[in-house]
Formats: sequence, C-alpha cells, structure tokens
Amino acid sequence: MSEAPFNDRFLRACRREPVDATPVWFMRQAGRSLPEYRELRGDADVLTLTRTPELAAEICLQPVRRYDVDAAILFCDIMVPIAGVGVDVRIVQNQGPTLAEPFRTDADLSRLRPIEPEADVPFVMETIRLVRKELRIPLIGFSGAPFTLASYLVEGRPSRDHTNTKALMHREPETWGRLMDALTGMMITYLRAQVEAGVQALQLFDSWAGALDPTDYERHVLPWTTRIVDGVKDLGVPTIHFGVNTGHLLSLMARAETDVVGVDWRTPLDEAWGRIGEEHGIQGNLDPAACLGPWEVVEAKAGDVLRQAGGRTGHIFNLGHGVLPETDPGTLARLTDLVHEETS
Ligand code: CP3
Repeated sequence: MSEAPFNDRFLRACRREPVDATPVWFMRQAGRSLPEYRELRGDADVLTLTRTPELAAEICLQPVRRYDVDAAILFCDIMVPIAGVGVDVRIVQNQGPTLAEPFRTDADLSRLRPIEPEADVPFVMETIRLVRKELRIPLIGFSGAPFTLASYLVEGRPSRDHTNTKALMHREPETWGRLMDALTGMMITYLRAQVEAGVQALQLFDSWAGALDPTDYERHVLPWTTRIVDGVKDLGVPTIHFGVNTGHLLSLMARAETDVVGVDWRTPLDEAWGRIGEEHGIQGNLDPAACLGPWEVVEAKAGDVLRQAGGRTGHIFNLGHGVLPETDPGTLARLTDLVHEETS
C-alpha cells in the first residue's frame, strides 16, 4: 500500500509560505467533544490518560480520523509537567486544575525544580513517538506560558480575576520573578524535549494573560515568554503564541517573536493582524459557540473569518478558543472541508 504524502500546509502557513488551501485545525479537537473519547476515557481523569501513552496517542488520533485537519495536537494538559516535578495538582471534573496548597510565598518556590522530561514525564515523550508513527500531518506540541501556569499555582484553582496572582506580582515582584524564572526554565527544557521526541511545531498557551493590562503584561510577563521563544528558536520549529481576551495585548504578544500569534473571536482578524504585524502569521478565530448554531450560521461566520484573512499568506484557520464539549463533530468535519474548498 502506498502511503499518503506528508501534508505540510500547516507548517508552510506558519512560515508564511504560499499554500494550496488554508490549513485548519481546532484547539481541543481531541477530547471532550468526541463520543469515542468519552467511551475510551471511562472514569479516568486527564492526568491518568496522559500517563498511558497508548491511550493518549489514540485520543490524539481520533479527530484526525474524523476530520481532514492539517495538524494534530498532542493530547496532554498544561499542568502535566508541573505534576511531573512532584507538585500535587489534581484535575477536578468540570472545573480544572486545583492545588490543595497554592503557592503564596518565596518558600513555595522550593516545590519547583528543573524538569528532566525523559525521567519526569516519560509518557509524554512516548506518546509523541507513538503518534508520529501514524501521522501524515504535523504534530503540534505545547506548554502553558509562565503567567497562565503561575496563575494556577498561585490561585490554586481556576480563577476569573487572578487576584492572588496579581497581588503576588505587585507586592513581591522578586518572588514573582523567581517563580516566572523557574517556570520559564522548566518550559524551555520541556518544549525542547517534545521537539526531540518528534513534535513539528510548538504552541504556547497563555490562556489567561488577557486578564492583565498592557503595562503589567509588558513588565511582568512578556520578558519570560520571550525567553521561552528564544530558548527554542535554534530548533527551527514554528511557534504559536495564544491567549484569550488579548485584543489589547496583541502588539505586545507579537514582540515575543513567535512565528504565529493566535487570536480569539473578540477581535476581527484583519484588525488583529494590523496590531500583530504582517510579518507574523495569524491563527484563528471563529467563535467556538458559533459551531453550536445551525450550519448556515457556521458557514456565514467562517466566511467572515476568511474574508478578513483576505487570502494573505500565514493564516491558519482555527477557533478562537477550544472546541466546546457540546459541539457536533459533524459540524467540525463540514467546517474543515468548507475552509479548504473556499480557499483552494
Ligand atoms: O478535552 C478535554 O477537556 C478532556 C481532557 C482535559 C484536558 N484538560 C485536556 C487538555 C481536561 C478535563 C482538562 C482539565 C483542565 N485543564 C481544564 C478544565 C477543562 C474543562 O474545560 O473542563 C483546564 C481549564 C485546564 C488548564 C488548561 N489546559 C489550559 C488553560 C489549557 C490551554 C488551552 C485552553 O483551553 O486555554 C490546557 C491545555 C489542554 N488541556 C489541552 C488538552 C487536550 C491542549 C490544548 C488543545 O488540545 O488544543
């Protein structure tokens, strides 16, 4: 049997090279919205699933069988490397990551240490190797960006206002800096190990950075995120920098110098691209909730995104945040085909 050729549309778009059609993938395409995922998972939590490479690999591949997507994303969670160095993190169903003992003082920093990926999270590396054997599209690796990770450590649970995190940043800027240093060092090592194991692009999730004003973002977050991007640059894999509610931060986020900046649906794509600069690619940005509407709505709103992208090189079609659990997989299959047809 002859193998399908490798589809490099996604990687080409990351590098702002011409493509035969706009590449598509969906954040959280693997996981909660798929019935075959829910069946496979049973009662296991996400940390347990990621510790079982055969299961994690299968979950990563499930959406690739259903959709004609141009990239796959590793099935893992941003808190896995934190748990890997021994921090007691639990994932509470329908809530998210929680810590019984949040980080609040300088003394808590001793609970972090440099990560040794092949020893601390060998299952992640093994999942990458397993998945790569099956894929004819690129595999995206990822980590949380330091602010979003710090927020979970300091709040101890998902937070809307990130009050404790901001308080630490303002009251104890040196402790904040050391926490960000520790997370930055860990993520550089972790991302480099993912590339060594086989991922072909890296996405940094700074999902909650939008909670900050531009001044605090620039002073207390951007230097560390930039250091991560610098710390993987020599590997030559494309990088994507994503956050939610970051319309006011896009020009600053672009300064971290990833190849691509991800945007949510609140900022029209053409406006976002203006802030980011045309020398970067852009990823987004259909409202995930639009996919809950009738097909006519999905079609019209996807058409808006494509019109705003205006056929420029460097657009990667995605949702503005993760696929919602209630999404009909049939809608995403049709949406993938629509984007390809409209842009080829
Ligand atoms: O698909 C699933 O939701 C089931 C598995 C699962 C993941 N994380 C996979 C994941 C579960 C139950 C979690 C727990 C978790 N971790 C939550 C609650 C999830 C929920 O909505 O019920 C949250 C918010 C986290 C923290 C987290 N993980 C963040 C902030 C991010 C960055 C992406 C984002 O949503 O903003 C992650 C990454 C993540 N968790 C991924 C996966 C498969 C990778 C991203 C992707 O697949 O696109």
